[in-house]
Amino acid sequence: MSHACKLAAGNWKMNGLSADLEQARALAAAFPDPKCGILLCPPATLISAMAEAVSGSAVMVGGQDCHAQVAGAHTGDISAHMLADAGARQVILGHSERRADHAETSAQVAAKAAAAHAAGLVAIICVGETEAERDAGQTLEIVLSQLAHSLPDGANSANTVIAYEPVWAIGTGRTPTLDQIAEVHDALRAKLPDAAMSLLYGGSVKPGNAAEIFAIANVDGALVGGASLKAEDFGAIIAAL
Ligand code: G3P
Repeated sequence: MSHACKLAAGNWKMNGLSADLEQARALAAAFPDPKCGILLCPPATLISAMAEAVSGSAVMVGGQDCHAQVAGAHTGDISAHMLADAGARQVILGHSERRADHAETSAQVAAKAAAAHAAGLVAIICVGETEAERDAGQTLEIVLSQLAHSLPDGANSANTVIAYEPVWAIGTGRTPTLDQIAEVHDALRAKLPDAAMSLLYGGSVKPGNAAEIFAIANVDGALVGGASLKAEDFGAIIAAL
């Protein structure tokens, strides 16, 4: 079963200055009454300003990471409560760049997701195999293990979204075949604690390939990196949903 309302989520990663809020405003103006959810996750420095810029529109704003604790001596970190206070409604967790650059484990991702839920945020939990893992035939084993260990107690379709992002497809212009995406999404769906949980695909989603990816059963939307930076590109992807 697929989730009824699809989601187009944009991950700006470490990109975006205040001038780029114009892209969020343009997106909000272009989709006054979208048939799917639209989310932009800018760097933390822009969350508050972006939430204000798109206030009253259909565009939601989210964070890219959070700490597992509410507050404390954690220099440079941001809690889920702080994200919510700044206007975020969702937070991406366990992105492969966080898992690789900050050695985040699935257990830490689960703790962060629990914190996100406690703050009233929807957790978008990322899973995905490296190219070496795919070549070794370990794709399903890896993503299902990440899923099982990254989900906190109480995760359901209202508070959690899963994003399948093959590491080798991120920012490379390479995407899995449609059959490969379908295989992983089917396997993930079968192991979700709530079958209605949304499953996003991420990794080199562009205006040119969005429609065929969205047509795959068990794909409920996309987590988009580079193509979410410009309202024109992201708008074309949203229109394909
Ligand atoms: O989180 C989205 C991302 O990792 C995909 O990036 O640039 O390949 O769309 P990109």
